[in-house]
Amino acid sequence: MCSDEWEATYLRFIRVVANPKKFARVLQKWQLNPNARILDLCCGNGSGLDVFWNAGFRNVYGLDISRNFLRRVRKDVPVVLADAQACPIRSGSFDVVIIHKALHHFFDHAPVLAEVKRMLKPDGFFCFIEPRKTWFRTLYHIVLMSPVAELFPPLARMRQAALIEEGPTYFTWLDNADAFFTMLEQQFSFVVESRTDDIMHHIVKCRNLPHQYAAAAGHDEYEGLQ
Ligand SMILES: C[S@@+](CC[C@H](N)C(=O)[O-])C[C@H]1O[C@@H](n2cnc3c(N)ncnc32)[C@H](O)[C@@H]1O
Repeated sequence: MCSDEWEATYLRFIRVVANPKKFARVLQKWQLNPNARILDLCCGNGSGLDVFWNAGFRNVYGLDISRNFLRRVRKDVPVVLADAQACPIRSGSFDVVIIHKALHHFFDHAPVLAEVKRMLKPDGFFCFIEPRKTWFRTLYHIVLMSPVAELFPPLARMRQAALIEEGPTYFTWLDNADAFFTMLEQQFSFVVESRTDDIMHHIVKCRNLPHQYAAAAGHDEYEGLQ
């Protein structure tokens, strides 16, 4: 759960950095069925849900842990206030689960992935967009965290404070993204079908392979997911 200051920064920052056109292009590339039941997990204020809606998707749902954010989601999209690690949603409910810039808020990704897996239909898709460690992002961090940032407009200083707050999980994510991909495929039997690593992000679409997963031994804690 994030602080009020972090949430205030997100709400101001998202207006600047949210790029609906870019997200719409990613959606086109993913070629999701327009009738698919789609869950935006950790949906925030719903800026991603708006892109789905404007692209003609009508079976879209949001889930987030912040009541403050969920209040801002468009009214025709049903939302759930919950922790992504324990979603009050029936198994096999969705054709697509998307996480947009939220995996880096978790130290341990296994509980979130287990929930994604459980909520997806067999052969459903898990799509995510997450920060990627590149020279460009590193440069951005160096500038943002330097004393020079004091000279920046207030929004940049708010972003600096937010980065410090989310830093422990965020930088752990950046340094361990490879391990996440291994876990995704080996422990949870997702098959990556499309992956773009651009100058700032990983953009990934992967398919749920439930039978392989069910066959994997030694995951008693995820019993009943199949
Ligand atoms: C960087 S924001 C991204 C929000 C949105 N996906 C977007 O692209 O604008 C991270 C989001 O993760 C949510 N979040 C963090 N921890 C969570 C948890 N345990 N369960 C559900 N949502 C969580 C936050 O409330 C926030 O909305």
